[in-house]
Amino acid sequence: MKTFFKSLTIAVGAAAMFAGIAAADGHLEGAVKARKALMQLYAFNLGQLGAMAKGDADFDAKVAAAAANNLLAAATMDQSAMWPQGSDSTAMAGKTNAKAEIWTTYPAVAEKGKALAEAATKLAGMVGDLDGLRAGIGGAGGACGGCHKEFREKIN
Ligand code: HEC
Repeated sequence: MKTFFKSLTIAVGAAAMFAGIAAADGHLEGAVKARKALMQLYAFNLGQLGAMAKGDADFDAKVAAAAANNLLAAATMDQSAMWPQGSDSTAMAGKTNAKAEIWTTYPAVAEKGKALAEAATKLAGMVGDLDGLRAGIGGAGGACGGCHKEFREKIN
């Protein structure tokens, strides 16, 4: 009887432990999903502006303002919970392209995020006409690339 209780305790303990691990993994995966979704919002809004800048879409000041303001709102969101320790491309191979350097060289990545927020702020004030949009979009695009170059795995 004594041994039965002992093994029961161990079994329950082990189950609780695995449940804990599963919950932690779920939390990391949710964070990865959220930041990828945020990146998709960046890309969608910048894409709309890019299409107008290139002449692939007619310039529309209202559409441009909405896209630039959305980009700015997304870029100034508090992302701290979206980048938890242990959610890098080594720890979660195949699930994320976030390089471990994000955490090992912190706060370098935060500077890149700040650069995007600044470029997006400027851009939002320039999209009233096509010339302004064309002059401002490079700074925002450059801020995306500046971070990807150092902190995102190369993707084909
Ligand atoms: C501060 C750093 C940083 C900035 C600034 C940044 N990115 Fe990213 N981006 C990343 C990282 C890191 C990943 C990989 C995320 C992952 O896989 O978990 C990524 C991934 C992406 C992805 C792929 C998302 C997916 O679904 O897998 C897109 C698209 C993207 N970024 C677009 C942009 C655009 C557009 C901008 C600029 C408006 C931008 N990013 C600015 C760091 C950044």
